[in-house]
Amino acid sequence: MRGLKAKRVLITGGASGIGAATAVRFLEEGSVVCVLDRDAEARRKILRELPGLAAALDADVSNLKQVQAAFAEAIRLMGEVDVLVNNAGISIRHNFLDITPEEARQRRDSANGVDQRRHGISVLCGLQRHQGGRDRTDEVDGA
Ligand SMILES: NC(=O)c1ccc[n+]([C@@H]2O[C@H](COP(=O)([O-])OP(=O)(O)OC[C@H]3O[C@@H](n4cnc5c(N)ncnc54)[C@H](O)[C@@H]3O)[C@@H](O)[C@H]2O)c1
Repeated sequence: MRGLKAKRVLITGGASGIGAATAVRFLEEGSVVCVLDRDAEARRKILRELPGLAAALDADVSNLKQVQAAFAEAIRLMGEVDVLVNNAGISIRHNFLDITPEEARQRRDSANGVDQRRHGISVLCGLQRHQGGRDRTDEVDGA
């Protein structure tokens, strides 16, 4: 990766797994990185492991108000968001036939559904608004 020095990056689901690994790479490139995650223990852990993070923000991406508040906090801390990594989601890593009804329910209710896309798009629209574009957040939320 090149040209990412000083880019301001927000990574959803960034407190563990692929999101956390992505945060490490952006930090290696000299980017300013905020992660956003609903898991409080994972947020504490990544802050210990990656002291260079600008923040580990608390939000569930299926909750529009939480996404908006976290995004506003990211802007406050970093001044801007240049890159959004919309990664949050549930990863069930065992045989399909071994997935329990509870896991299936969690997956259905999780960030992998329509809400993740809608609120991810809401974040992007907020980005656009911040950068002088038209505010489409309400349109998207009502979609
Ligand atoms: N690991 C894989 O093989 C694989 C394959 C295909 C797609 N994916 C997708 O990649 C993404 C990351 O996968 P992973 O393996 O790193 O998962 P992971 O479970 O290790 O990490 C996901 C992170 O997202 C957070 N998260 C989950 N739902 C959230 C929500 N609603 N709001 C805020 N944070 C939330 C979790 O707390 C966790 O920290 C997921 O969207 C997953 O569906 C993963």
